[in-house]
Amino acid sequence: MYFEYNEKKPDNFTEDWDGQYQIIPWMAYIASIPHVIYLVTTFKEDGTPNAALEGWSSFTGEGDNYFVIISGLLKSSHTYQNIKRDRIFCVNFLSSKYIDQIKKTISENEIETDEIRNSGFTLEKAETMMIPRIKESFLKLECQFEWEKELIPGSTNITVCGRVIHISVEKEFARSNVSTRFNDSFMFHLMAMKDPITGKRIRGGIGKIDLIEEMDL
Ligand SMILES: Cc1cc2nc3c(=O)[nH]c(=O)nc-3n(C[C@H](O)[C@H](O)[C@H](O)COP(=O)(O)O)c2cc1C
Repeated sequence: MYFEYNEKKPDNFTEDWDGQYQIIPWMAYIASIPHVIYLVTTFKEDGTPNAALEGWSSFTGEGDNYFVIISGLLKSSHTYQNIKRDRIFCVNFLSSKYIDQIKKTISENEIETDEIRNSGFTLEKAETMMIPRIKESFLKLECQFEWEKELIPGSTNITVCGRVIHISVEKEFARSNVSTRFNDSFMFHLMAMKDPITGKRIRGGIGKIDLIEEMDL
């Protein structure tokens, strides 16, 4: 048995919090597609470091060209304002042992807060641009803003593409085989869901990869 939906939101899909569907499409609560999560680091206007948890992204390109496409970035976020102004940002992947520190970047998000040090991370200088990086991250992508696009005119979120100018990768991660590489590296946002019959929220969470089989891919 399948549940089938078109573009009309089911009546029992009421908002769990004000403005929920202004920010996140209701279909995402049915699809429950996991996204890798990471911290984007930027500088605020006065030079204070900013860190924000993001997901909803893909990483693509060809040849010497590698891009991050942040598919949904809140226009109201400090991160978007910083990227718009400075046109640079860093993508920092962190392992699950930093979950509590990551959560602090959301709960303590004031404009005057140095969100890297305040969350217990170590700030380090980037290699190729004036951008803060997180030392504890096992994989860092220094990015230059390429373009942005509103998927819906006047939308709350915006899609931002950054060109990766420099990669910094922890030696152990870079040399580990597939069976150990993901034991303690990438984390995924496992979306909350909506029960199609009751419309009740089913909690989501944070997850990681479970290897099924080694293959030559
Ligand atoms: C699991 C998770 C994933 C998130 N993904 C995104 C995202 O993809 N885009 C976004 O704009 N906000 C996302 N957020 C919300 C931001 O982390 C949050 O708004 C943050 O405080 C913005 O910080 P800033 O104002 O310093 O940029 C996510 C939050 C969580 C908990």
